[in-house]
Amino acid sequence: MIDLKKCTLAVCEIARQAGAYIKGERQKFSLESVERKHAHDYVSYVDKGSEKLIVSALRELLPEAGFITEEGLAGHDSEQMLWVVDPLDGTTNFIHQYAPYAVSIALLQGKDILIGVVYEICADECFYAWQGGGAHLLMHNSQCIMHNNLHVSSQQIQDALICLQLPYNSEAYKPVITHLIEKLYGNVGSIRACGSAAMALCQVAAGRLDGYAEQYIGQWDYMAGSLIVMEAGGMVTDYDGSADFTQGNSVVATNGVIQQDLLKVIGETKNK
Ligand code: IPD
Ligand code: CA
Ligand code: CA
Repeated sequence: MIDLKKCTLAVCEIARQAGAYIKGERQKFSLESVERKHAHDYVSYVDKGSEKLIVSALRELLPEAGFITEEGLAGHDSEQMLWVVDPLDGTTNFIHQYAPYAVSIALLQGKDILIGVVYEICADECFYAWQGGGAHLLMHNSQCIMHNNLHVSSQQIQDALICLQLPYNSEAYKPVITHLIEKLYGNVGSIRACGSAAMALCQVAAGRLDGYAEQYIGQWDYMAGSLIVMEAGGMVTDYDGSADFTQGNSVVATNGVIQQDLLKVIGETKNK
């Protein structure tokens, strides 16, 4: 039996170490290091270096677990327990030196997310949750280390701050995002796009955002943040409204109050 709390706090340390590496590399980073995975989907040695560091530390922490990682450097993925890792979420933000960008690590067993950790590098904030243990925010300053409990907001749709992202699959998503903006712009508090799926989820968990929706994203983008939202009292489904979202490519995460409002507008995009 894994001690989930102990393991989560160890993962926070691993995420913070990867964050320190990313922060250090950012100081000497040049645009010449940027490679393209697809049009407008960028990567660099920093994403890969962070992934190597995280994978080797997680292997030591829990040798029996396998891996699903964005850069695919870890290999095996058929074990019962899987680490789901985005070594740098918000690569485009990182390249432009534009916050936020983060490290995202989850532990998945079947369809159960056991652990979720997202470390945001620019603000030095580590969001974490384990199944049944609530959601928390770890902050360090010169005097002390603080662990605060997280809770979603209770905002209604008309004043809600909603994050709608712009995933790489622009051709497929353009009709959907166009409809969402047309229906929501002017009818909610306001709309944002922060450039990091993991951080959009953590901001919902922290009650700073009231809702977030995105399609065409990978498991590494949403796995850790989704557990953090649910443990903070929020709700997560896919675009069809199913709570069985861990194998899919879409998430709608809210304070719960506005979940059906967002799903209704998303439902109207089905034939777009
Ligand atoms: C991306 C970011 C972005 C989201 C994309 C993701 P990456 O991840 O989370 O906010 O809109 O869909 O792929 O490539 O920066 O790790
Ligand atoms: Ca990502
Ligand atoms: Ca990434």
